[in-house]
Amino acid sequence: MKESYLIDAIRTPRGRLSRPKKGFVGELADIHPTTLGATLVDAMIDRHPTLPTEKIEDLIFAVNATIKEQAVNIARWVVLASKLPCTVSGVQINRACAGSLQASAFVNASIKVGDYDAAMAGGVEHMNKIPIGSDRNDPDRLPITPEILAKYNIVPQGLSAEIIAEKYAISQEEINEFSVRSQQKAHAATEAGKFKNEIIPIAYRDSEGNQRVLDRDANIKADTTVEKINGLPRPFKENGLIHAAASSGICDAASLSLWVSEQIAKECGLKPRARMVSYANCGVNPTEMLDGVIPGTLLALKRAGLTLEQMDRFEINEAFASVPLAWMKTLNIPEEKVNVNGGAIAMGHPLGATGVILLATMINELEREDLRYGLITVCAAQGLSGTAIIERIP
Ligand SMILES: CC(C)(COP(=O)(O)OP(=O)(O)OC[C@H]1O[C@@H](n2cnc3c(N)ncnc32)[C@H](O)[C@@H]1OP(=O)(O)O)[C@@H](O)C(=O)NCCC(=O)NCCS
Repeated sequence: MKESYLIDAIRTPRGRLSRPKKGFVGELADIHPTTLGATLVDAMIDRHPTLPTEKIEDLIFAVNATIKEQAVNIARWVVLASKLPCTVSGVQINRACAGSLQASAFVNASIKVGDYDAAMAGGVEHMNKIPIGSDRNDPDRLPITPEILAKYNIVPQGLSAEIIAEKYAISQEEINEFSVRSQQKAHAATEAGKFKNEIIPIAYRDSEGNQRVLDRDANIKADTTVEKINGLPRPFKENGLIHAAASSGICDAASLSLWVSEQIAKECGLKPRARMVSYANCGVNPTEMLDGVIPGTLLALKRAGLTLEQMDRFEINEAFASVPLAWMKTLNIPEEKVNVNGGAIAMGHPLGATGVILLATMINELEREDLRYGLITVCAAQGLSGTAIIERIP
């Protein structure tokens, strides 16, 4: 097996959902998802000028809703829109919310077996242009068959979040407090400049036509309090526990990582930042859907020959507050090591892009704190999860 290294991981800031009734236009709402991806590819090329672009063989790019601006292998459109030569391939994948983490794992594994020497992995989700669910909004043309429905109760993800809360006996108080802490941690990390190395600022025009630059996640609501959010409606279940402030925000963003073989790193003078020690996919019952992060974590650890205690940091995607809460409760992990810079509840969850956003945040955190191992896990629609263990290379 060859050695595969993570050289860099970057992302756009997360732009908010437009609110036409309030006359608000989301920061990135008018920027094409292909442009978001290509902007990151160009930034990655600029950050690593000693790597000739023709050495990059492929871009594996994840999207959740593969229609309209995100249709027809968007990875190839991103390559063609960027400074990369057209000799670089491109393939779009979809493993729902775990998509870009999966893209990284595919690139990493391909480098290890010698199929690539250098490749990029990332993802995008433009939730303003392609609203969540808009790729399956015709009830007569769904991929779900009566045979599947006879076997499984297929429910919306918000309802799964309620089911998870009940299954793991998570209280309203725990959900509210975790949701507030996510906002506080994200705000503190942003103010401290902790995302500066991973965010590539994006220029945009605001609703008044002024030229602006978005250089931070726009969703964060630093003044969130338990009192304010407890009174919010429960959109997924009558008398439920999950409100908008305990759900990941709808947003627009892209992410990108660069992986190379040991030989290319040496040849081009690239400093490896990390390696992927293991990766695990897990399928679970699609009704509960969101607790695949628990068996996924255990499988990734087993595969790596490592223990939970050896992990210095965890990024558990905050699809809904009940997901990380169930994960922490089951695995008995204190919150001090979990999502220390906030999560998707505060900053948003741009489905296809999220995995590599978490990878970027994790590697910067391990470097800043001089730590070694980080575990990233993302639950995904249809009862899927993806989990990666990263080891920082000092
Ligand atoms: C939960 C969800 C339906 C809410 O959508 P929404 O109603 O458009 O959400 P909003 O941001 O408008 O929030 C609703 C209200 O709660 C308020 N609110 C939300 N978060 C808040 C916070 N942290 N503090 C205070 N108020 C908050 C908003 O201000 C808004 O108030 P308003 O109606 O007075 O304007 C949506 O965010 C969602 O579906 N999220 C999950 C996405 C998903 O499934 N992803 C995949 C997961 S695997």
